[in-house]
Order: sequence, then structure tokens, then C-alpha cells
Amino acid sequence: MEGKVAIVTGASRGIGQIIAQTLAQKGMKVIAVARSIDNLSKTCQLIKDEGGQATPIMADMTQSENFEQLIEKATSVYGKLDCLVNNAGIEQYQHFKNYSSEYINNCLKTNLHAPILLSKAILPQLLEQGNGHIINVASLAGKKGVSYNSIYSASKSGLIMWTDSMRQELSQTDVNISVVCPGFIRDSGMFHNSGQTAPKLLGSSLPQDVADAVIKCIKNNSAEVIVNPGPMKPLLALNQISPRLGDWVVKLFGVPEMNQKRIE
Ligand SMILES: NC(=O)c1ccc[n+]([C@@H]2O[C@H](COP(=O)([O-])OP(=O)(O)OC[C@H]3O[C@@H](n4cnc5c(N)ncnc54)[C@H](OP(=O)(O)O)[C@@H]3O)[C@@H](O)[C@H]2O)c1
Repeated sequence: MEGKVAIVTGASRGIGQIIAQTLAQKGMKVIAVARSIDNLSKTCQLIKDEGGQATPIMADMTQSENFEQLIEKATSVYGKLDCLVNNAGIEQYQHFKNYSSEYINNCLKTNLHAPILLSKAILPQLLEQGNGHIINVASLAGKKGVSYNSIYSASKSGLIMWTDSMRQELSQTDVNISVVCPGFIRDSGMFHNSGQTAPKLLGSSLPQDVADAVIKCIKNNSAEVIVNPGPMKPLLALNQISPRLGDWVVKLFGVPEMNQKRIE
């Protein structure tokens, strides 16, 4: 990873900031992308204080018409790009009937269209240079639908399946693609900001665990890494066999109850 260049979206705060710092600690040069230039500058300063290299670039993930230009600009900073971490994301808990069309569009654009279209913009140069890695930060909400967060779930499930398709399509090339699926993350990020505590039976992880999962993807070319302390894979397998049994387990854990509180 030493000397390679990573572009990290959503690096202005939360999980993305820790991913950016962790990649820099591994010797990567970081291009930090988000809308808030002040917070991006803070992320870059944290990296520089630790002896790393980082540059902020302001960009809105809903404005895909600017993505070619964004990749061009990012490439010119350190002369190349090796890695794209699609981490920027939004969510809003709401009854489906109450979602605005604006939110539905923004959520799908930010969480699903942006990773796909940014990857499309960067892929030609990764293929040409004969190496590269795209890492998509999805969510366990993309593995099992989440009540009152249906648009977010749809966006993350789309991201997981798009990654799955692309991994097979890219398997004959030197470009890798992985997906990270975090569960509840405490201490910072969108779940932490909601003020809720994760159900005891499901547990929670740290932003650093997500960053470590990104590193694991790069080192091992992992297909998918789930970030959660509990036995998530058997539960997801159970849900594949019977979604209604999955609903029952989720209810047993108190998830719909907690989600309802997140609307209020
Ligand atoms: N926290 C959790 O428990 C959890 C669990 C599973 C998955 N995840 C996923 O992890 C990723 C990071 O989440 P987080 O918890 O760190 O959230 P967060 O604290 O709310 O941070 C979201 C990041 O995305 C950026 N962003 C949002 N909309 C954007 C847009 N239109 N254009 C550019 N950047 C945009 C924000 O920057 P600006 O506002 O400055 O633009 C910010 O840097 C997301 O994809 C999320 O779905 C989080």
C-alpha cells in the first residue's frame, strides 16, 4: 500500500475520516472528498500531523455530471490513483409513505449511483495501469431489509449486488472490487448521531473496525467483509432460507422498535 493513492468519499467526518487516516497510516496518499471543505481540511490536517499526505477535494455525490472532472482533478494531485473507497452515504428513518421524492432521489444518487458512476470514471485508468481496487462501503441494511429505512436498504442492497456482479466481471483483470457491510457503529457516524444504542444481542463496532475491514479488503482482495461482533453470517443464511423467520429474529432483537424511535 506504501506510496499508492486512495480517493475516499465521505472523508469529512464519521467512518470516512477514520478510513482516510488508516489508509494514510499504511503509507497511502489520500484524496479526501465530501461537500464540507472545512471538515475535509480537518481530516487532511489530522493525516499530515501524523506524517501522512492528504489533499481535500470538494464534491457533491449527487452531481454525477462532475465525476469525470473529479477523477481527472484527483489524478493530477499525486499523478495517479490506485484505490477508490466509496464511503459517502446518507440515511433517513421514515414511514415509506412520508418520504419525499427529493430524499428518495438523493439517497439513491449518493449511496448507489455515485459509487457506480465514480467507478465508471476511474476504471479505465485502473485497467490501463494494471492494478487498482474499488471498495464499496455498504451496510448490513443491504443484507436484510430495515423497516422505516427502506430507501437506504434498497440503495445498499443494490451496492452489494453491483459489487458482486463487477467482481465476477473484473476477475480476469488486475482490478479488484470489494464490499464492506458494517452493522451498528458506535462513537461516531450516522448511527452514533441518532443517539440510539444498538440492541445488546446484535452489538456494535467501532469506526476503526470498518477502516480495518477496508485494509483487509485491499490486502486479501476479500469479496465481502461484514463488520459486526455477533454471528451475523448464520443469521443471514437463515434469512435467505426464510425471510419471515428473519423478520422474527430481527423483531426479537428489538430492531423495528428501535427504528420507530429513530423516526421520532
Ligand atoms: N454509522 C453506521 O452505523 C453505519 C453502519 C453501516 C453502514 N454505514 C455506512 O458507512 C458510510 C459512512 O457513514 P457514517 O456513519 O460515517 O456517516 P456520516 O457520519 O453521516 O458521514 C457521511 C459522510 O458522507 C458524506 N456525504 C453525504 N452526502 C454527500 C454528498 N451528497 N456528497 C458528498 N459527500 C457526502 C458526508 O460529508 P459532507 O456532509 O461533508 O458532504 C460525510 O463525510 C455510509 O455509506 C454509511 O451508509 C454506516
